[in-house]
Amino acid sequence: MAKMTLRDVDLKNKIVLMRADFNVPLDDKLNITDDTRIKETLPTIRYILDKGAKRLILMSHLGRPDGKRVDKYSLKPVAQRLKGLLGENVKFLDDCVGQKVKKSAAQAKERIVLLENLRYHSEEEANDSVFAKELSSLGEIFVNDAFGTAHRAHASTAGITKYLKSVAGFLLEKEIKYLGDALQDPQRPFVAILGGAKVSDKIAVIDNLLVKCDAILIGGGMSYTFLKAQGKNIGNSKLEKDKLELAKSILDKAKAVNKEIVLPVDNIVVDKIDADSKSELVGDNIPDGKIAVDIGPETIALFKDKLKNARTIVWNGPLGIFEMDAFSKGTKEIVEFIAHLKTTSIIGGGDTAAAVSKFGMQSKMSHVSTGGGASLEFLEGKVLPGIASLTDK
Ligand code: 3PG
Repeated sequence: MAKMTLRDVDLKNKIVLMRADFNVPLDDKLNITDDTRIKETLPTIRYILDKGAKRLILMSHLGRPDGKRVDKYSLKPVAQRLKGLLGENVKFLDDCVGQKVKKSAAQAKERIVLLENLRYHSEEEANDSVFAKELSSLGEIFVNDAFGTAHRAHASTAGITKYLKSVAGFLLEKEIKYLGDALQDPQRPFVAILGGAKVSDKIAVIDNLLVKCDAILIGGGMSYTFLKAQGKNIGNSKLEKDKLELAKSILDKAKAVNKEIVLPVDNIVVDKIDADSKSELVGDNIPDGKIAVDIGPETIALFKDKLKNARTIVWNGPLGIFEMDAFSKGTKEIVEFIAHLKTTSIIGGGDTAAAVSKFGMQSKMSHVSTGGGASLEFLEGKVLPGIASLTDK
């Protein structure tokens, strides 16, 4: 990429300020329930330390505390987890700006410092330039490894780059490589799988992918609006009425550009969405009163057939309510099938990454993105401010 990366700068004796996305899920007792995002930054952290940086100051947001100090969104548990993963002490500071922070960071005997949640200050999301400048005064080089937040033009992702040389960390670089190659120079056939609840969330992705990929397989909540657009009966399944015309025009556009959009040919349906509900298998006409919750076996077989020769697969959005075991078969079987293909498999973050992790197949995919919203915007073809603002090579 045309942006500077960690490999382009001399880190020796430098104070490095790094933005990570440590926005990890926590349970009621503030235990981290998934530390993937922390683990994925370790190669960058280790490299910075190995190259002789004097100190590494880490910063992140967690949750959406809306500019207020909210205890449950503290990054303190992340400091503990980092310490465990790195095997060295991490100094945690209870704020991210101010004289006290500056002094404590400068005097820390630890090599690694983690600042408190940036979003305790409303200036972070407002991309306030004074706040960005104050953050920048803590370091001599800025490293952005927060791909998950790269779609936000915030003080710590975009504003700060005006004041320091700004380079991509290895995670950011990896994400751009996989997602970017798929969009710009994919190995063909290139098949996309799109699912998830809403058509409205995926319109821009469909639009962008329709011209780039060879086929799009659609399942999950959004598929019923497409089935309805084809004149099918969808019972009480999820319907976005105001998107029906749009769904029709997408199907027409696909025909016009000679690209295949593959919709479910059979569905698992229930009377009520409940883990104990009795389910039944129906075709692509869903009877009145029934709610579709997963793709059926014929659709699974059809999707596998479309995927088996693909050389690039991009997947964003589950194919059913995979969080409930009874309705997870479609998503699970497709995850497992892709995991065993010799192909470049790229999994969007958020729900799709959670599904792949639930079925234990993370390591079998070429790339599982750490960004939910960010990977979606990237696939939409948007410019992500956290990337665009880095220093050009
Ligand atoms: C995410 O989890 O998608 C990122 O950390 C960004 O969080 P946000 O949607 O609250 O900006």
